[in-house]
This record gives sequence, C-alpha cells and structure tokens, in this order.
Amino acid sequence: MNSSIDDPVNARQAFKVSMRAQWNTAAAGWDAHAADIRAWLHGPTDAMCRMAGVSTGARVLDVAAGSGDQTLTIAQQVGAQGYVLATDLSPAIVALARDNAARAGFAQVETRVADGEDLGVAEASFDAVVCRLGLMFFPDPLQGLREMHRALRPGGGACTMVFSRPEKNPCLTILMSTALKHAGLPARDPFVAGGLLSLGQPGRIDALFRSAGFDDVATTAVDAVFRLPSVDHYLAFVRGSASPILQILSPLDTAAAEAAWSEMRQRLMVFTTQDGWAGPNELLMTAGRRPKVTT
Ligand SMILES: C[S@@+](CC[C@H](N)C(=O)[O-])C[C@H]1O[C@@H](n2cnc3c(N)ncnc32)[C@H](O)[C@@H]1O
Repeated sequence: MNSSIDDPVNARQAFKVSMRAQWNTAAAGWDAHAADIRAWLHGPTDAMCRMAGVSTGARVLDVAAGSGDQTLTIAQQVGAQGYVLATDLSPAIVALARDNAARAGFAQVETRVADGEDLGVAEASFDAVVCRLGLMFFPDPLQGLREMHRALRPGGGACTMVFSRPEKNPCLTILMSTALKHAGLPARDPFVAGGLLSLGQPGRIDALFRSAGFDDVATTAVDAVFRLPSVDHYLAFVRGSASPILQILSPLDTAAAEAAWSEMRQRLMVFTTQDGWAGPNELLMTAGRRPKVTT
C-alpha cells in the first residue's frame, strides 16, 4: 500500500476496494487448487488450530477465510456442538466457502462477508480466532488484530499465519520481482503494509499482537515446502489464484504477460528435484491470548 497518500483513511479504503476486486477474480482459481493448498498447509493449519485453542464445542472465528479450506478443518475439530464463523472481504470467495461447508455437511459453519478490520461481531463472543495467510493483506494489520482481540472472550486465543522474510520465501520474491520488472514498475519495499511479505520482518508481528492487547505472545517459524509434480503445476496455481501477481501483470498485453510468465518459469525451475518440484516457504505462526479479566 502507498502509505504516502495524503488521506490515509481514504487510501486504506481504496486499497481494500482493489483487494476485494482482485480476490473476487482469483476466488475460483484459489478454490480449484484447494487440494494442493491442503497438502501444502495441513500441518501448519493443525498447529494454528492448536495454538489458538480450537477444541470440541468451541466457537471459532475464521478471519480472511478464503474459500474455507481451514474452515473445514476447524469445523471437524469443534464438532457438531461447536460453531465456526468464516469471514472474508471478497463476496465471491465467501460464496465458495459457504458451498464447500454445505457440501461437507457442516451445519456448524456460517459465513459472512466482512472486512477483517471491522468484523461486526459481538464483543467477547468467540473462544478462538484464526487467520490463515490473510493478515498480511490488511492495510492496517494492527486494527485487524484489535478486532480479533475484541471478538475473543477473556482467556481466548488467537493464531495467525503469515509469510516470513523475503529470503526465506524465494518463490514469492521471484514471482514479485519478475512481474514488477515486466510491468515496468520499480522494486517494492516488501515490508510496506498490505503486501504479501509485509509481516515477515523479524519481531514485527509480535509487536503488533502486543499493541493490540494480547498476552502470552509467541511466534514460531515453520518450514512449509510447497511440493508439486512440476514447476508447471506451481505456475498453474499462481496464474489461477495469486491475486497480487495477477494484479501487477493485468495492464500488460498477452505477449508481454506471457514473456513475464516464461521468465518466472525459467527462474522457478531451480526448485525442480528428482521427485518433482519443491518450492521453499517459511511461515510465521503467531499466537496470543486475550488477558483474563482481573478483579
Ligand atoms: C491467500 S488467501 C487465504 C485464504 C484462506 N485463509 C486460505 O488460507 O485458504 C487471502 C484472503 O484474504 C482475504 N482478505 C484480504 N484482505 C482482507 C481484509 N481486509 N479483510 C478480510 N479478508 C481479507 C482475501 O479476500 C483472500 O480470501
């Protein structure tokens, strides 16, 4: 996000309008790759649920839920006596989350279109809150964390998952730098609010959790190698669903965009192994607790 724009409130709103449009476009592609995403993230997702304190019968808020892959995991864990509210900025992706939960037979799941910075849920109405690969897209992540804190009952837990430092996520830096170069745009500071890697700076997300009022804040870095049969499978995923890259390339004509994809493919080939393709990623899992009320 360009934080130098004079009116920061309007700039944040404009950023979110654009983000919503991007994810409305990418929604079907993200959902179509749900099986690959599940294989990639199922371990970190289980850890996220554990760190937030998701348990049988719990009421869980899923922020920036996308098409609801982790929502299904949570629904399984809370069981029929529990409740999951899956929220997201994009109406198109929320509709997919609702269909996926219904198809899986999870009556304990509800969905709602909601900006994570203004969730509109009742104060202290959830036992746990999770946010998988969403918070880094918020122009004001501190406000997002304040909303999660407000939604939690005293003693309830939150856990977020974001990408860590650029050098630990080389596939993302290759995609981003190649797309920017072909679009004729300057390199971007990866830590500017709202970007894919914006919360990867060491210590940043812990500080935000504490500022939002959380106690017992701890971050764990987790290796999450994305394993696919080939680089072309990864590119198909990116081309269908990686909204930040698609947005950068959107002004280019077909030939110019194809030249960018071709260079990305060539650079990403470096992660080809004997068993397929293995793209390194590192995630930060941050947990915190809303303090119990003291008398
Ligand atoms: C990478 S997807 C992750 C989706 C899902 N959590 C998953 O891991 O499969 C990022 C999601 O963040 C959502 N998002 C971006 N900005 C948001 C905001 N301000 N409030 C709520 N959701 C937002 C997007 O609409 C998108 O669905």
